[in-house]
Amino acid sequence: MAFERVATLDDLAVGTALAVEVAGEPVCLVRVDADTVKAIHDTCSHQRYSLAEGWVEDNTVECALHGSSFDLDSGAPQSLPAVKPVPVYACRVDAGAVWVDGARQLNDAAVPRH
Ligand code: FES
Repeated sequence: MAFERVATLDDLAVGTALAVEVAGEPVCLVRVDADTVKAIHDTCSHQRYSLAEGWVEDNTVECALHGSSFDLDSGAPQSLPAVKPVPVYACRVDAGAVWVDGARQLNDAAVPRH
């Protein structure tokens, strides 16, 4: 597997999240600043809600269902009720496009199964 183009910066305003699919997995892209996008699995580890429906603050995304926030580098929950991390993936921005490598998970979180 390699990096695949999944969005453009025009799809994603700073401070917002976007649901995409990478190698068959739902992934939440988060644009944290003008030049940086992070990729985290789009499934909250608490009750499997879409993280892309939530809110971005600094380097975290907050689940809209019960309020757990997740660090976008470690995938670790920063607040209850979630207690397990969410997978995070290699992501880069190149020439206005967002690229994610679904085979390059950056932490050891279990991939949610539906
Ligand atoms: S489903 Fe995300 S905090 Fe409950």
